[in-house]
Amino acid sequence: MTDLAQVSLPGVPDKRQVAASFSRAAASYDSVAALQRTVADTLLAQLPTDLRPQRWLDLGCGTGYCTRALAQRYGAGQGLAVDLAEGMLRHARPLGGAAHFIAGDAERLPLATGSCDLLVSSLALQWCGDFARVLAEARRVLRPGGVLAFSSLCVGTLQELQASWQAVDGHVHVNRFRALSTYQQLCADSGMRVRALQVQPQVLHYPDVRSLTGELKALGAHNLNPGRPGGLTGRERIRALLAAYEGFRQPQGLPATYQVVYAVLHKEF
Ligand SMILES: C[S@@+](CC[C@H](N)C(=O)[O-])C[C@H]1O[C@@H](n2cnc3c(N)ncnc32)[C@H](O)[C@@H]1O
Repeated sequence: MTDLAQVSLPGVPDKRQVAASFSRAAASYDSVAALQRTVADTLLAQLPTDLRPQRWLDLGCGTGYCTRALAQRYGAGQGLAVDLAEGMLRHARPLGGAAHFIAGDAERLPLATGSCDLLVSSLALQWCGDFARVLAEARRVLRPGGVLAFSSLCVGTLQELQASWQAVDGHVHVNRFRALSTYQQLCADSGMRVRALQVQPQVLHYPDVRSLTGELKALGAHNLNPGRPGGLTGRERIRALLAAYEGFRQPQGLPATYQVVYAVLHKEF
């Protein structure tokens, strides 16, 4: 794990913390991951229909929803599933779907150059500080003709929670997300052809703020930013947060917006 700590950048969560948080969440993740399943299904629907990959990779596999879907489509024989969090791998492995479940970092893939035909990653790459490096690694492990398909989150995600905290104390309480324009620029510069890249907002509704923050914790996706306030959050501040979030209330409940980026890239040579 020492390597993982060394590649973390200022302004994004430390990788050891990301791994520990997702490992802790492995048992609760599936019970609250409805959005994640919808996003994975939407991403998989965008894969080219003529694709017949021999070796495919699910990067940031989590509990393995995408892994098992890929195995259904393409067979499990040569499937690989990689995740930073050992706890997620322990959970996913017995459920099957891939030939190998491997601990690894998207920014430093433990795979040979030119070894995969298809790389799929759903809602994992927003945790990587160096997205140019992720793309370079994806390009390295793909064979010429290979496809990278990913979903991720961009600026505007959890904007209501962020704005509510901002009104209370101005601190970073919500994980930082890259701008859509950054995804566009880095994909354009990746040396792969961008076949599709678009953002689809998705809004979930909650009866109250605690339901939202409890769900983020059960997903392992609560705020891990450096600069998050340490220690207990005072009652006054929580009351102020709840009051600020009420300003967003809609007839269906309190909204939480996710700005989901979907992209399909093609390594031509
Ligand atoms: C929100 S979960 C998504 C899991 C799964 N793909 C799904 O759609 O349900 C994010 C996953 O990405 C993994 N992850 C985060 N950073 C990673 C990295 N740098 N390399 C590999 N996996 C990473 C986490 O451990 C976690 O399991």
